[in-house]
Amino acid sequence: MTKRVAILISGGGSNMLALVKSMTEGHPARAVLVLSNNADAAGLQKARDLGVATSVVDHRPFGKDRTGFEAKLNEALDLAKPDVICLAGFMRILTPEFVAKWRARILNIHPSLLPKYKGLNTHLRAIKAGDFEAGCSVHQVTDELDDGPVLGQARVPVFPDDTAETLAARILPFEHKLYPLVLEKFATGDLSPVNLP
Ligand code: GRF
Repeated sequence: MTKRVAILISGGGSNMLALVKSMTEGHPARAVLVLSNNADAAGLQKARDLGVATSVVDHRPFGKDRTGFEAKLNEALDLAKPDVICLAGFMRILTPEFVAKWRARILNIHPSLLPKYKGLNTHLRAIKAGDFEAGCSVHQVTDELDDGPVLGQARVPVFPDDTAETLAARILPFEHKLYPLVLEKFATGDLSPVNLP
């Protein structure tokens, strides 16, 4: 049966767009909801333009109350009944309780070659470390930030004159290739890693 996919975003949503566009006829999954913590996320309109239902749960009224925020998130998700939740530039840390509720069903894309550079500023950290290669990883989400089994990676070279911006721009198109490839396999129960190029 076709798997139901919810995609969580906070910003531009280019990865979300790549995922939604990949789920065409015959694909083992389909997008049922794009959910954002930010009503101004540019990705929301892009999702609507593609005919995908959207929903917003603003995190700000909840302050430090992550549980309250996630209760609302779960209300929206429970209605959508996702088999898979794809985090795609979703800039909120999730509690172990949320992860447990959706256990083994949450994927994330992270712009580094995990386990290197968990957290933020990944491109600058790779450049400052003098790395010759960088890239992105898709992994299953566990309680630890940017941890969990890696299901795919794409590698790109780092050039001597790279800035965080040029490196990010080199990696992003690979994110758009990698995430759909991993999702398609994941939706069929295949957890073997994807490696690009
Ligand atoms: C991507 O680089 C992703 O890896 C990171 O945040 C960025 C989101 O970009 N987690 P977009 O919203 O998918 O365009």
